[in-house]
Amino acid sequence: MAQNDDLKALIRTIPDFPKPGIQFRDITTLLLDADGFATAIARMAAAVPGPIDLVAGIEARGFLFAAALAAPLRAGVLLIRKDGKLPGATIAEDYALEYGQDRIAIHADACAPGARVLLVDDLIATGGTARAAVRLLAKAGAELVQAQFLVDLPDLGGADALRADGVAVASLIA
Ligand code: PRP
Ligand code: HPA
Repeated sequence: MAQNDDLKALIRTIPDFPKPGIQFRDITTLLLDADGFATAIARMAAAVPGPIDLVAGIEARGFLFAAALAAPLRAGVLLIRKDGKLPGATIAEDYALEYGQDRIAIHADACAPGARVLLVDDLIATGGTARAAVRLLAKAGAELVQAQFLVDLPDLGGADALRADGVAVASLIA
């Protein structure tokens, strides 16, 4: 069995969601599997190259992975939210999605300059979301240690674009 094929088997594909022609990789089935979710978190934690101060998770599914990783890494959780949800002063970035346009934000004081940050999301597709998150973290003065994803959709080029931006990228499943 190839590496992480056990986890890949827990992800299902839903055709034509949210639009005709899109093959949606649905991770909710992996989340429902107790051993699968615990194994995914353990393997993601093991791939982190060094000490981390904050795990930055992208709303909404990225929160699940960021929160679960924060405990074994003994790190705090930094919420990267869809714009308009955070109560304090924010900094924001616009980005293009595979199927739309959106804007994400963090609290302006969430990240001390020089903090070692792990960026986490469930999936990278075009990379628009993750690249906007990287721009936000750079504005905050973070030291981005790595960007990690449970799933990479390599045909959409997001991970390669992030690497071209100079980011260390890791994922369990392609
Ligand atoms: C999905 C996914 C990533 C992003 C990947 O989130 O969780 O955040 O899209 O796409 P990209 O690489 O093309 O930017 P979505 O915006 O659907 O939000 P959700 O987690 O709230 O469902
Ligand atoms: N699955 C889950 N989230 C996504 C996808 C997908 O295939 N594409 C963009 N965001």
